[in-house]
Amino acid sequence: MADRILLPAEKLPTQWYNVLADLPKPLEPPINPGTGKPVSPEDLAPIFPRSLIEQEVSTERWIEIPEPVREIWSIWRPTPLVRARRLEEALGTPAKIFYKDESGSPPGSHKPNTAVAQAYFNSREGVKRLTTETGAGQWGSALSFATCAFGLDCTVYMVRVSYEQKPYRKTMMEVWGATVHASPSEHTEIGRAIRAQVPDTPGSLGIAISEAVFDAAHSDDTKYSLGSVLNHVLLHQTVVGLETKEQMRLAGEFPDVLIGCVGGGSNFGGLFLPFLPEKLDDHPELRFIAVEPTACPSLSRGRFLYDFGDMAKTTPLLKMFTLGHTFIPPGIHAGGLRYHGCAPLISSLADQGVVETRGLHQRQVFEAGVLFARTQGIVVAPETAHAVRVAIDEALRCKETGEARTILFNLSGHGHFDMSAYEAFLRKQLVDYEYPEEAIARATAELAESVPGFEQ
Ligand SMILES: Cc1ncc(COP(=O)(O)O)c(C=O)c1O
Repeated sequence: MADRILLPAEKLPTQWYNVLADLPKPLEPPINPGTGKPVSPEDLAPIFPRSLIEQEVSTERWIEIPEPVREIWSIWRPTPLVRARRLEEALGTPAKIFYKDESGSPPGSHKPNTAVAQAYFNSREGVKRLTTETGAGQWGSALSFATCAFGLDCTVYMVRVSYEQKPYRKTMMEVWGATVHASPSEHTEIGRAIRAQVPDTPGSLGIAISEAVFDAAHSDDTKYSLGSVLNHVLLHQTVVGLETKEQMRLAGEFPDVLIGCVGGGSNFGGLFLPFLPEKLDDHPELRFIAVEPTACPSLSRGRFLYDFGDMAKTTPLLKMFTLGHTFIPPGIHAGGLRYHGCAPLISSLADQGVVETRGLHQRQVFEAGVLFARTQGIVVAPETAHAVRVAIDEALRCKETGEARTILFNLSGHGHFDMSAYEAFLRKQLVDYEYPEEAIARATAELAESVPGFEQ
Protein backbone atom coordinates (compact mmCIF):
# COMPACT_ATOMS: atom_id res chain seq x y z
CA MET A 1 0.00 0.00 0.00
CA ALA A 2 1.35 3.43 -0.99
CA ASP A 3 1.94 5.91 1.81
CA ARG A 4 -0.43 8.48 0.27
CA ILE A 5 -4.02 7.28 0.21
CA LEU A 6 -5.96 9.38 -2.27
CA LEU A 7 -9.67 9.45 -3.05
CA PRO A 8 -10.94 10.05 -6.57
CA ALA A 9 -12.97 13.25 -7.15
CA GLU A 10 -16.28 11.34 -7.21
CA LYS A 11 -15.68 10.15 -3.63
CA LEU A 12 -15.97 13.71 -2.28
CA PRO A 13 -18.77 13.32 0.32
CA THR A 14 -22.25 14.44 -0.68
CA GLN A 15 -23.63 14.61 2.88
CA TRP A 16 -22.36 15.90 6.21
CA TYR A 17 -22.65 13.67 9.27
CA ASN A 18 -24.67 15.28 12.08
CA VAL A 19 -23.61 13.79 15.40
CA LEU A 20 -26.60 15.38 17.18
CA ALA A 21 -28.55 12.35 15.90
CA ASP A 22 -26.32 9.92 17.83
CA LEU A 23 -25.17 11.68 21.00
CA PRO A 24 -25.22 9.49 24.12
CA LYS A 25 -26.60 12.49 26.04
CA PRO A 26 -28.41 15.50 24.46
CA LEU A 27 -26.65 18.86 24.56
CA GLU A 28 -27.84 21.51 26.96
CA PRO A 29 -29.33 24.39 24.92
CA PRO A 30 -27.77 27.83 24.42
CA ILE A 31 -29.39 30.37 26.75
CA ASN A 32 -30.55 33.89 25.93
CA PRO A 33 -28.88 35.99 28.67
CA GLY A 34 -31.70 38.54 28.49
CA THR A 35 -34.45 36.06 29.38
CA GLY A 36 -32.55 33.20 31.03
CA LYS A 37 -34.43 30.88 28.60
CA PRO A 38 -33.14 28.76 25.69
CA VAL A 39 -32.40 30.89 22.63
CA SER A 40 -35.02 30.90 19.90
CA PRO A 41 -34.28 31.03 16.16
CA GLU A 42 -35.54 34.66 16.21
CA ASP A 43 -32.85 35.55 18.77
CA LEU A 44 -30.17 34.40 16.32
CA ALA A 45 -31.74 35.81 13.13
CA PRO A 46 -29.98 39.23 13.29
CA ILE A 47 -26.56 37.60 13.02
CA PHE A 48 -26.98 34.20 11.27
CA PRO A 49 -28.90 33.12 8.14
CA ARG A 50 -31.91 30.85 8.59
CA SER A 51 -30.29 27.79 7.00
CA LEU A 52 -27.36 27.82 9.42
CA ILE A 53 -29.68 28.34 12.41
CA GLU A 54 -31.60 25.25 11.24
CA GLN A 55 -28.40 23.25 10.93
CA GLU A 56 -27.36 24.36 14.43
CA VAL A 57 -30.31 22.51 15.99
CA SER A 58 -31.07 19.82 13.40
CA THR A 59 -31.09 16.20 14.56
CA GLU A 60 -31.16 14.74 11.02
CA ARG A 61 -28.25 12.28 10.84
CA TRP A 62 -27.25 13.21 7.26
CA ILE A 63 -27.39 16.71 5.78
CA GLU A 64 -27.00 17.32 2.04
CA ILE A 65 -23.88 19.23 0.95
CA PRO A 66 -24.94 21.73 -1.75
CA GLU A 67 -23.30 21.26 -5.16
CA PRO A 68 -21.76 24.80 -5.29
CA VAL A 69 -19.96 24.03 -1.99
CA ARG A 70 -18.58 20.75 -3.37
CA GLU A 71 -17.52 22.55 -6.51
CA ILE A 72 -15.36 25.11 -4.64
CA TRP A 73 -14.07 22.37 -2.30
CA SER A 74 -12.94 20.37 -5.33
CA ILE A 75 -10.12 22.91 -5.82
CA TRP A 76 -8.30 20.99 -3.05
CA ARG A 77 -10.57 18.15 -1.84
CA PRO A 78 -10.59 15.21 -1.28
CA THR A 79 -7.42 15.75 0.77
CA PRO A 80 -4.74 13.05 1.15
CA LEU A 81 -4.44 10.65 4.07
CA VAL A 82 -0.74 9.93 4.51
CA ARG A 83 1.21 7.31 6.39
CA ALA A 84 4.10 9.06 8.19
CA ARG A 85 6.53 6.23 7.59
CA ARG A 86 9.69 8.34 7.85
CA LEU A 87 8.51 9.65 11.23
CA GLU A 88 7.75 6.08 12.37
CA GLU A 89 11.27 5.02 11.36
CA ALA A 90 12.88 7.99 13.13
CA LEU A 91 10.99 7.05 16.31
CA GLY A 92 11.68 3.33 15.95
CA THR A 93 8.09 2.59 16.85
CA PRO A 94 6.03 -0.47 15.89
CA ALA A 95 3.01 1.88 15.66
CA LYS A 96 1.60 3.11 12.36
CA ILE A 97 1.11 6.88 12.21
CA PHE A 98 -1.32 8.43 9.70
CA TYR A 99 -2.22 12.07 9.15
CA LYS A 100 -5.11 13.66 7.29
CA ASP A 101 -3.53 16.55 5.44
CA GLU A 102 -5.76 19.64 5.48
CA SER A 103 -2.84 22.00 4.79
CA GLY A 104 -3.30 21.99 1.00
CA SER A 105 -6.36 24.27 0.85
CA PRO A 106 -5.79 27.75 -0.67
CA PRO A 107 -5.63 29.47 2.76
CA GLY A 108 -3.59 26.56 4.16
CA SER A 109 -5.85 24.91 6.73
CA HIS A 110 -9.11 23.05 7.42
CA LYS A 111 -10.93 26.36 8.00
CA PRO A 112 -12.30 26.84 4.45
CA ASN A 113 -14.34 23.61 4.79
CA THR A 114 -16.87 25.60 6.82
CA ALA A 115 -16.03 29.06 5.40
CA VAL A 116 -17.12 27.96 1.92
CA ALA A 117 -20.33 26.42 3.27
CA GLN A 118 -21.16 29.48 5.37
CA ALA A 119 -20.48 31.91 2.51
CA TYR A 120 -22.71 29.79 0.25
CA PHE A 121 -25.71 29.63 2.64
CA ASN A 122 -25.45 33.37 3.36
CA SER A 123 -25.27 34.30 -0.33
CA ARG A 124 -28.27 32.08 -1.08
CA GLU A 125 -30.31 34.07 1.46
CA GLY A 126 -29.36 37.43 -0.05
CA VAL A 127 -26.70 38.45 2.47
CA LYS A 128 -24.19 40.89 0.94
CA ARG A 129 -21.45 41.08 3.57
CA LEU A 130 -20.01 38.83 6.30
CA THR A 131 -18.16 39.99 9.40
CA THR A 132 -15.84 37.89 11.49
CA GLU A 133 -12.89 37.94 13.87
CA THR A 134 -9.51 36.37 13.46
CA GLY A 135 -6.56 35.76 15.76
CA ALA A 136 -3.42 34.86 13.87
CA GLY A 137 -5.32 35.04 10.57
CA GLN A 138 -6.11 31.45 9.49
CA TRP A 139 -9.85 31.83 9.90
CA GLY A 140 -9.94 35.37 8.49
CA SER A 141 -8.10 34.24 5.38
CA ALA A 142 -10.40 31.22 4.99
CA LEU A 143 -13.51 33.42 5.11
CA SER A 144 -11.92 36.00 2.78
CA PHE A 145 -11.26 33.22 0.26
CA ALA A 146 -14.81 31.85 0.61
CA THR A 147 -16.60 35.21 0.37
CA CYS A 148 -14.49 36.00 -2.71
CA ALA A 149 -15.68 32.71 -4.26
CA PHE A 150 -19.36 33.68 -3.78
CA GLY A 151 -19.06 37.43 -4.50
CA LEU A 152 -19.72 38.66 -0.93
CA ASP A 153 -17.96 41.49 0.92
CA CYS A 154 -16.04 40.53 4.04
CA THR A 155 -14.97 42.56 7.08
CA VAL A 156 -12.42 40.95 9.40
CA TYR A 157 -11.62 42.19 12.91
CA MET A 158 -8.08 40.98 13.49
CA VAL A 159 -6.63 40.88 17.03
CA ARG A 160 -4.38 43.97 17.16
CA VAL A 161 -1.19 42.20 18.23
CA SER A 162 -1.41 39.81 15.25
CA TYR A 163 -2.37 42.64 12.88
CA GLU A 164 0.85 44.40 13.83
CA GLN A 165 3.13 41.35 14.09
CA LYS A 166 1.79 39.14 11.26
CA PRO A 167 1.10 41.48 8.35
CA TYR A 168 1.22 38.80 5.64
CA ARG A 169 -2.01 37.03 6.65
CA LYS A 170 -3.66 40.47 6.51
CA THR A 171 -2.31 41.00 3.00
CA MET A 172 -3.59 37.56 1.97
CA MET A 173 -7.09 38.52 3.17
CA GLU A 174 -6.87 41.79 1.21
CA VAL A 175 -5.77 39.91 -1.92
CA TRP A 176 -9.08 38.03 -1.68
CA GLY A 177 -10.87 41.39 -1.33
CA ALA A 178 -11.59 41.57 2.42
CA THR A 179 -11.41 44.70 4.60
CA VAL A 180 -9.29 44.10 7.70
CA HIS A 181 -9.43 46.20 10.90
CA ALA A 182 -7.10 45.90 13.87
CA SER A 183 -9.28 45.04 16.90
CA PRO A 184 -10.22 46.79 19.11
CA SER A 185 -11.01 49.29 16.37
CA GLU A 186 -12.66 52.67 15.96
CA HIS A 187 -15.41 51.07 13.81
CA THR A 188 -17.65 49.81 16.63
CA GLU A 189 -18.93 51.28 19.87
CA ILE A 190 -17.43 48.35 21.79
CA GLY A 191 -14.03 48.81 20.15
CA ARG A 192 -14.00 52.55 20.87
CA ALA A 193 -14.96 51.97 24.51
CA ILE A 194 -12.16 49.44 25.07
CA ARG A 195 -9.60 51.68 23.35
CA ALA A 196 -10.63 54.60 25.54
CA GLN A 197 -10.09 52.47 28.67
CA VAL A 198 -6.87 50.71 27.61
CA PRO A 199 -5.32 52.61 24.67
CA ASP A 200 -2.42 50.18 24.14
CA THR A 201 -4.41 46.92 24.55
CA PRO A 202 -3.09 44.01 22.43
CA GLY A 203 -6.72 42.92 21.85
CA SER A 204 -8.10 39.39 22.18
CA LEU A 205 -10.31 36.98 20.29
CA GLY A 206 -13.13 37.69 22.77
CA ILE A 207 -12.98 41.43 21.97
CA ALA A 208 -12.74 40.84 18.19
CA ILE A 209 -15.84 38.57 18.31
CA SER A 210 -17.74 41.32 20.14
CA GLU A 211 -16.84 43.81 17.40
CA ALA A 212 -17.75 41.47 14.53
CA VAL A 213 -21.11 40.53 16.12
CA PHE A 214 -21.86 44.20 16.85
CA ASP A 215 -21.06 45.21 13.27
CA ALA A 216 -23.34 42.50 11.81
CA ALA A 217 -26.20 43.19 14.20
CA HIS A 218 -26.14 46.92 13.34
CA SER A 219 -25.81 46.67 9.53
CA ASP A 220 -28.28 45.79 6.78
CA ASP A 221 -27.63 42.79 4.51
CA THR A 222 -24.81 41.73 6.82
CA LYS A 223 -24.39 38.60 8.93
CA TYR A 224 -21.71 37.28 11.24
CA SER A 225 -19.67 34.16 10.66
CA LEU A 226 -17.90 32.08 13.33
CA GLY A 227 -15.04 29.75 12.42
CA SER A 228 -15.36 27.20 15.21
CA VAL A 229 -17.27 26.26 18.42
CA LEU A 230 -20.84 26.06 17.04
CA ASN A 231 -22.59 22.84 15.98
CA HIS A 232 -22.99 23.87 12.33
CA VAL A 233 -19.26 24.59 12.04
CA LEU A 234 -18.35 21.14 13.37
CA LEU A 235 -20.99 19.67 11.05
CA HIS A 236 -19.30 21.23 8.00
CA GLN A 237 -15.92 19.93 9.17
CA THR A 238 -17.16 16.31 9.26
CA VAL A 239 -16.10 16.11 5.61
CA VAL A 240 -12.61 15.54 7.08
CA GLY A 241 -13.57 12.48 9.14
CA LEU A 242 -15.86 11.06 6.45
CA GLU A 243 -13.08 11.11 3.86
CA THR A 244 -10.67 9.69 6.45
CA LYS A 245 -12.98 6.75 7.17
CA GLU A 246 -13.16 5.88 3.50
CA GLN A 247 -9.39 6.21 3.11
CA MET A 248 -8.73 3.98 6.13
CA ARG A 249 -11.11 1.43 4.66
CA LEU A 250 -9.14 1.53 1.38
CA ALA A 251 -5.92 1.05 3.37
CA GLY A 252 -7.47 -1.91 5.19
CA GLU A 253 -6.91 -0.16 8.54
CA PHE A 254 -8.94 1.08 11.49
CA PRO A 255 -7.52 3.64 13.94
CA ASP A 256 -6.89 2.92 17.62
CA VAL A 257 -6.60 6.59 18.44
CA LEU A 258 -7.67 9.87 16.76
CA ILE A 259 -5.86 13.06 17.76
CA GLY A 260 -6.51 16.74 17.07
CA CYS A 261 -5.46 20.09 18.48
CA VAL A 262 -8.29 22.09 19.99
CA GLY A 263 -8.97 25.81 19.89
CA GLY A 264 -12.74 26.03 19.50
CA GLY A 265 -12.83 22.35 18.51
CA SER A 266 -13.62 22.32 14.79
CA ASN A 267 -10.73 20.39 13.23
CA PHE A 268 -10.71 17.81 16.01
CA GLY A 269 -14.51 17.48 15.89
CA GLY A 270 -14.45 17.20 12.11
CA LEU A 271 -12.03 14.31 12.33
CA PHE A 272 -13.43 12.24 15.18
CA LEU A 273 -17.20 12.87 15.26
CA PRO A 274 -17.89 10.60 12.23
CA PHE A 275 -16.15 7.81 14.19
CA LEU A 276 -18.33 8.27 17.30
CA PRO A 277 -20.96 5.71 16.21
CA GLU A 278 -18.20 3.07 15.90
CA LYS A 279 -16.89 3.86 19.38
CA LEU A 280 -20.37 3.71 20.90
CA ASP A 281 -21.15 0.54 18.97
CA ASP A 282 -18.50 -2.10 18.29
CA HIS A 283 -15.17 -0.28 18.96
CA PRO A 284 -15.32 0.92 22.60
CA GLU A 285 -11.50 0.81 22.71
CA LEU A 286 -11.21 3.61 20.10
CA ARG A 287 -9.73 6.71 21.77
CA PHE A 288 -10.21 10.40 20.94
CA ILE A 289 -7.56 12.82 22.27
CA ALA A 290 -8.01 16.62 22.29
CA VAL A 291 -4.75 18.54 22.65
CA GLU A 292 -4.42 22.10 23.93
CA PRO A 293 -1.72 24.42 25.31
CA THR A 294 -1.09 24.54 29.08
CA ALA A 295 -1.27 28.31 28.56
CA CYS A 296 -4.95 28.06 27.55
CA PRO A 297 -6.22 24.83 29.13
CA SER A 298 -9.97 25.25 28.68
CA LEU A 299 -10.83 21.54 28.30
CA SER A 300 -8.30 20.10 30.72
CA ARG A 301 -8.56 22.67 33.53
CA GLY A 302 -11.55 24.91 32.77
CA ARG A 303 -15.01 24.58 34.35
CA PHE A 304 -18.05 23.04 32.60
CA LEU A 305 -20.42 26.01 32.92
CA TYR A 306 -22.62 28.33 30.91
CA ASP A 307 -20.46 31.22 29.64
CA PHE A 308 -20.50 33.90 26.97
CA GLY A 309 -18.61 33.37 23.73
CA ASP A 310 -17.11 36.87 23.85
CA MET A 311 -15.73 39.50 26.16
CA ALA A 312 -18.54 42.05 25.80
CA LYS A 313 -21.19 39.40 26.59
CA THR A 314 -23.06 39.91 23.29
CA THR A 315 -23.42 36.18 22.44
CA PRO A 316 -25.79 33.60 23.91
CA LEU A 317 -24.59 31.60 26.91
CA LEU A 318 -23.12 28.26 25.89
CA LYS A 319 -22.60 25.26 28.19
CA MET A 320 -18.91 24.55 27.69
CA PHE A 321 -15.56 24.05 29.35
CA THR A 322 -14.34 27.60 29.90
CA LEU A 323 -11.62 29.68 31.52
CA GLY A 324 -14.09 32.59 31.75
CA HIS A 325 -14.89 35.12 29.00
CA THR A 326 -12.63 37.70 30.66
CA PHE A 327 -9.61 35.51 29.79
CA ILE A 328 -6.77 37.47 28.17
CA PRO A 329 -4.47 34.89 26.65
CA PRO A 330 -0.76 34.73 27.35
CA GLY A 331 1.32 35.43 24.25
CA ILE A 332 2.03 31.88 23.14
CA HIS A 333 2.59 31.20 19.47
CA ALA A 334 -0.36 28.92 18.71
CA GLY A 335 -2.71 31.89 18.18
CA GLY A 336 -5.58 29.65 17.02
CA LEU A 337 -5.67 27.78 20.34
CA ARG A 338 -6.07 30.83 22.56
CA TYR A 339 -9.84 30.82 23.02
CA HIS A 340 -11.37 30.81 26.52
CA GLY A 341 -13.99 28.12 25.73
CA CYS A 342 -14.52 25.04 23.61
CA ALA A 343 -17.34 23.71 21.41
CA PRO A 344 -20.34 22.58 23.52
CA LEU A 345 -20.34 19.31 21.53
CA ILE A 346 -16.76 18.48 22.46
CA SER A 347 -17.13 19.85 25.99
CA SER A 348 -20.08 17.56 26.62
CA LEU A 349 -18.25 14.49 25.26
CA ALA A 350 -15.19 15.40 27.35
CA ASP A 351 -17.42 15.75 30.42
CA GLN A 352 -18.76 12.24 29.77
CA GLY A 353 -15.24 10.83 29.40
CA VAL A 354 -15.68 10.00 25.69
CA VAL A 355 -12.92 12.48 24.79
CA GLU A 356 -9.55 12.53 26.60
CA THR A 357 -7.61 15.78 26.96
CA ARG A 358 -3.89 16.65 27.07
CA GLY A 359 -2.22 19.98 27.87
CA LEU A 360 1.21 20.70 26.38
CA HIS A 361 3.95 23.29 26.86
CA GLN A 362 4.99 25.14 23.74
CA ARG A 363 8.63 24.00 23.66
CA GLN A 364 7.71 20.31 23.51
CA VAL A 365 5.20 21.23 20.80
CA PHE A 366 7.76 22.98 18.57
CA GLU A 367 10.24 20.14 19.16
CA ALA A 368 7.64 17.84 17.62
CA GLY A 369 6.94 20.30 14.78
CA VAL A 370 10.63 20.38 13.88
CA LEU A 371 10.97 16.58 13.99
CA PHE A 372 7.91 16.27 11.74
CA ALA A 373 9.36 18.79 9.25
CA ARG A 374 12.69 16.95 9.23
CA THR A 375 11.06 13.57 8.57
CA GLN A 376 7.83 14.19 6.63
CA GLY A 377 8.82 17.57 5.16
CA ILE A 378 5.77 19.66 6.09
CA VAL A 379 6.30 22.65 8.40
CA VAL A 380 3.03 22.45 10.32
CA ALA A 381 1.18 25.32 12.00
CA PRO A 382 2.04 25.73 15.71
CA GLU A 383 -1.57 24.70 16.47
CA THR A 384 -1.16 21.48 14.49
CA ALA A 385 2.18 20.74 16.15
CA HIS A 386 0.19 20.05 19.36
CA ALA A 387 -1.45 17.08 17.64
CA VAL A 388 1.89 15.96 16.20
CA ARG A 389 3.40 15.93 19.71
CA VAL A 390 0.72 13.65 21.10
CA ALA A 391 0.92 11.36 18.05
CA ILE A 392 4.67 11.05 18.72
CA ASP A 393 4.11 10.44 22.44
CA GLU A 394 1.57 7.71 21.67
CA ALA A 395 3.99 6.13 19.18
CA LEU A 396 6.80 6.20 21.76
CA ARG A 397 4.49 4.51 24.25
CA CYS A 398 3.96 1.75 21.69
CA LYS A 399 7.74 1.45 21.40
CA GLU A 400 7.91 0.72 25.14
CA THR A 401 5.03 -1.77 25.15
CA GLY A 402 5.71 -3.29 21.72
CA GLU A 403 2.11 -2.65 20.60
CA ALA A 404 1.59 -1.97 16.86
CA ARG A 405 -1.23 0.53 17.29
CA THR A 406 -2.67 2.71 14.53
CA ILE A 407 -2.44 6.40 15.38
CA LEU A 408 -4.14 9.06 13.28
CA PHE A 409 -4.00 12.84 13.65
CA ASN A 410 -5.44 15.81 11.82
CA LEU A 411 -2.79 17.93 10.13
CA SER A 412 -4.98 21.00 10.40
CA GLY A 413 -2.70 23.50 8.66
CA HIS A 414 0.75 24.53 7.50
CA GLY A 415 2.93 27.02 9.34
CA HIS A 416 4.27 29.08 6.46
CA PHE A 417 3.17 32.31 8.14
CA ASP A 418 4.56 31.23 11.51
CA MET A 419 8.27 31.44 10.82
CA SER A 420 8.86 33.94 13.62
CA ALA A 421 7.57 31.30 16.06
CA TYR A 422 9.84 28.60 14.65
CA GLU A 423 12.71 31.08 14.69
CA ALA A 424 12.10 31.86 18.38
CA PHE A 425 12.09 28.11 19.09
CA LEU A 426 15.31 27.44 17.15
CA ARG A 427 17.00 30.36 18.98
CA LYS A 428 15.83 28.92 22.31
CA GLN A 429 13.80 32.06 23.05
CA LEU A 430 10.49 30.32 23.76
CA VAL A 431 9.33 30.04 27.34
CA ASP A 432 6.80 27.61 28.76
CA TYR A 433 3.79 28.92 30.60
CA GLU A 434 1.16 27.36 32.82
CA TYR A 435 -2.08 29.32 33.22
CA PRO A 436 -2.58 29.95 36.97
CA GLU A 437 -5.34 28.13 38.85
CA GLU A 438 -6.33 31.30 40.80
CA ALA A 439 -7.13 33.09 37.54
CA ILE A 440 -9.40 30.23 36.38
CA ALA A 441 -11.10 30.04 39.78
CA ARG A 442 -11.68 33.81 39.89
CA ALA A 443 -13.00 34.19 36.33
CA THR A 444 -15.30 31.19 36.52
CA ALA A 445 -16.62 32.06 40.01
CA GLU A 446 -17.82 35.37 38.54
CA LEU A 447 -19.85 33.46 35.96
CA ALA A 448 -22.39 32.39 38.52
CA GLU A 449 -23.30 36.06 39.00
CA SER A 450 -22.91 37.33 35.45
CA VAL A 451 -26.55 36.92 34.44
CA PRO A 452 -29.06 38.13 37.03
CA GLY A 453 -31.68 35.48 37.79
CA PHE A 454 -29.86 32.72 35.87
CA GLU A 455 -28.65 29.71 37.86
CA GLN A 456 -25.73 27.70 36.53
C1 LIG B 1 -4.08 25.45 11.65
C2 LIG B 1 -5.08 25.52 12.76
N1 LIG B 1 -5.35 24.41 13.46
C3 LIG B 1 -6.23 24.43 14.48
C4 LIG B 1 -6.88 25.59 14.86
C5 LIG B 1 -7.81 25.55 16.02
O1 LIG B 1 -9.13 25.75 15.70
P1 LIG B 1 -10.21 24.60 15.82
O2 LIG B 1 -10.11 24.04 17.21
O3 LIG B 1 -11.51 25.25 15.54
O4 LIG B 1 -9.86 23.58 14.80
C6 LIG B 1 -6.64 26.78 14.15
C7 LIG B 1 -7.35 28.02 14.52
O5 LIG B 1 -7.10 29.08 14.04
C8 LIG B 1 -5.71 26.73 13.08
O6 LIG B 1 -5.45 27.84 12.39
